[in-house]
Amino acid sequence: MADCIILIGFMGAGKSTVGKLLASRLQYEFLDTDELIKEKFKMSIPEIFEKFGEEYFRKGEKEVIKSIPLDTKAVIACGGGSVIDPDNVECLKKLGKIIYLKAKPETLAMRVSGNHDRPLLESDGQAVIDKIISLIEKREKIYSECCDESIDTDEYNAKKTVEILIGIV
Ligand code: S3P
Repeated sequence: MADCIILIGFMGAGKSTVGKLLASRLQYEFLDTDELIKEKFKMSIPEIFEKFGEEYFRKGEKEVIKSIPLDTKAVIACGGGSVIDPDNVECLKKLGKIIYLKAKPETLAMRVSGNHDRPLLESDGQAVIDKIISLIEKREKIYSECCDESIDTDEYNAKKTVEILIGIV
């Protein structure tokens, strides 16, 4: 079993929900990079974006990822944009096994609907799906290339995804 199991993928892929369940099944610590950023700045993600902009958020994201000690044993849910920065990928690879939780834009849109914690998806209906499609187009290659394994989660709930994960980590 890898020291850290690192969950990556688009917003709404289920990284936090699945990550918490997996951590409790494995009796591992659970870390969520978004939560670490919120603690660092004592602010919500939308507040950080609104007051300081995305670049500042990304800087904070990079700092929290870099600050995770190499001897950590945890399930880590990473913000959807974290692996865009190759330095973050390098840090995460040193920590453990990277798993990409995949889902179709329609599934992701359904899972993020009604949630206002994600400034990059602040729209409704078809506009959210369009934003997701355009961001995924830019990110898909990065997600697929930096992961050790991937799971298509469209057909699975969090519990089933955890069962599959336990078989591969
Ligand atoms: C982002 C994903 C979010 C959060 C921020 C930016 C992204 O995390 O880090 O809103 O760029 O994909 P989740 O993937 O946990 O929603």
